[in-house]
Amino acid sequence: METILIIGGSGFIGSNFIRRIMKRKNYRVVNFDALTYAGNPDNLIDIEKNPRYTFVKGDIRIPKNLTAVFKRYRPEYVINFAAETHVDRSIHESPAVFLQTNAAGVLNILEAVRDYPVKKFLHVSTDEVYGTLSLTGGKPFTEASPLRPNSPYSASKAAGDLICRAYFETWGLPIVITRCSNNFGPYQYPEKLIPFFVLRAMKGETLTLYGDGKNVRDWIYVEDHCNALELALFKAKPGSLYNIGATHEVSNLEIAQRIADYFKLSRSKITFIKDRPGHDRRYALNALKIKKELGWQPRAQFDTVFKQTIEWYEQHSAWINKLNIK
Ligand SMILES: NC(=O)c1ccc[n+]([C@@H]2O[C@H](COP(=O)([O-])OP(=O)(O)OC[C@H]3O[C@@H](n4cnc5c(N)ncnc54)[C@H](O)[C@@H]3O)[C@@H](O)[C@H]2O)c1
Repeated sequence: METILIIGGSGFIGSNFIRRIMKRKNYRVVNFDALTYAGNPDNLIDIEKNPRYTFVKGDIRIPKNLTAVFKRYRPEYVINFAAETHVDRSIHESPAVFLQTNAAGVLNILEAVRDYPVKKFLHVSTDEVYGTLSLTGGKPFTEASPLRPNSPYSASKAAGDLICRAYFETWGLPIVITRCSNNFGPYQYPEKLIPFFVLRAMKGETLTLYGDGKNVRDWIYVEDHCNALELALFKAKPGSLYNIGATHEVSNLEIAQRIADYFKLSRSKITFIKDRPGHDRRYALNALKIKKELGWQPRAQFDTVFKQTIEWYEQHSAWINKLNIK
């Protein structure tokens, strides 16, 4: 039986990915996660007793933690979700921890992969590395678009991507990079826009947007992202890079309005504050390459999964109550 080492599997996308990959009964999964505020063992409570699943607590900033897990489990496949992911924290709290995890931490993983060769290392990245498009123009980013990150978060992710590229070019490690647009779905830590607003709307509180709220994101349902990652992990050629996006651009204001309307909250509850510095105006991705080369297609119907996502948070008050939300 082959082993897939999933790094950062206790967060939002990682836990959805593990639930999906566990359905493949011919693989053992090792989840290596530091359990920061964003990592939550409850995200995988239904999986934790499965004999094909093992959890190892460890930090990618500490090389010997990685050496220990690679040496013990000798994974054939590795996928990295571990990151500091909240742009606001990268601005208002510590930019340094973003660089330490998202850049230096990735370097540590690559060193472990050099020492313990694998069939594939998939590094999960973001469309934010490309920077911003204007609201009125600009073609969706392709894999050939220049990297122009504007926040400490996106700069640290771009640094991680470039280190991966260098390790492919220099040592021929079997690395694949994916860059996805904004995800939504169950198990997302409620500091991110959709669950944050859903929790507030449930309590009848205001939904506060940065600036004029017209910033546009290209939303994808987490299951569609995980499906693309599964294809990339097993089918993509080493050295390849894929954008993943569902071509569904929605403004933050529309997201707030949809949530307000679902909870029959007056739209006067939507308020505005001074914009965030360096706030990217619009993201849009061209994902033709992964569709053509790996046969991926997003399947979710936005209206349906958006409503299901709201319902999931409504039905999971025990999960929410256990979170230590700052
Ligand atoms: N959420 C999105 O919309 C989105 C979009 C595109 C790409 N991504 C990328 O996907 C990946 C996963 O995102 P997410 O939203 O699930 O993040 P998340 O914040 O929900 O989870 C991150 C996970 O990484 C773990 N982690 C953090 N620092 C660590 C460290 N030093 N060592 C080991 N584990 C550590 C956390 O404990 C947590 O379990 C990230 O790399 C992110 O950049 C996210």
